Amino acid sequence: MSAKASGVPFGIDFGGSGIKGAPVDLDRGEFAEERVRIDTPQPSTPHAVAAVFAELLAKFPGSEGPVGVTVPGVVVKGVVHSAANIDKHWIGEDADRLFTKGTGRDVHVVNDADAAGLAEVRYGAAKGRRGLVIVTTLGTGIGSALVYDGVLVPNSELGHLEIDGHDAEKRAAASAREREDLSWEDWAKRLTAYYRKLEDLFSPELFVVGGGVSKKADQFLPLVDIETEIIPAELRNAAGIVGAALYATESET
Ligand code: BGC
Repeated sequence: MSAKASGVPFGIDFGGSGIKGAPVDLDRGEFAEERVRIDTPQPSTPHAVAAVFAELLAKFPGSEGPVGVTVPGVVVKGVVHSAANIDKHWIGEDADRLFTKGTGRDVHVVNDADAAGLAEVRYGAAKGRRGLVIVTTLGTGIGSALVYDGVLVPNSELGHLEIDGHDAEKRAAASAREREDLSWEDWAKRLTAYYRKLEDLFSPELFVVGGGVSKKADQFLPLVDIETEIIPAELRNAAGIVGAALYATESET
């Protein structure tokens, strides 16, 4: 790989079906080289995943900067504390240490929605916005990032708010729409209840909606009936990788 990637940070997006990574140009908030994807091992235990990270990084021998990794769970000081939609072996794992050892690189682990939130606020839909921005990702679960004046409050986990006696993400994540074969209208009703709850609790300036389904935002966002401005994410599937690389770089400085 080219020497231009030397010292450039690397972002890894660890998802249920694929592990994707690329060196990231932090001036532009874009991949510095084309992204590579490897299937997520099943079961996706920490050790099996660490081996895939090493394989992925080996494809970019010129990239020597810090490595950021997204994890779909609570992460405090590199240790994973929850695993709602991933292998339960992650709970209690010191992922920073495991991956740093497994890859020989300086690895910093961050919650997936927090990474997406950082990326959207720095480079994407919420660029330059002040006040409280809540970035939500609608996928298998619901991820959330609370960003106030550009500063992240990590691990907000607002996908697990209880609404009408249910874990919110079980009813309103994109996976619930698919599982229950909901129309856009019916799904939007659930999203309305969800975002209204967030409005009541936080009175944010702006909601940003990410996750794969956000590319179809035209179909459902206009149907979400709330007071607060709500807009689709812009970085789409680059947000995790870009945000992870940004997080890793900021963690080192
Ligand atoms: C997890 C969060 C994660 C979100 C999106 C939730 O189930 O608890 O940590 O950010 O899913 O992956």
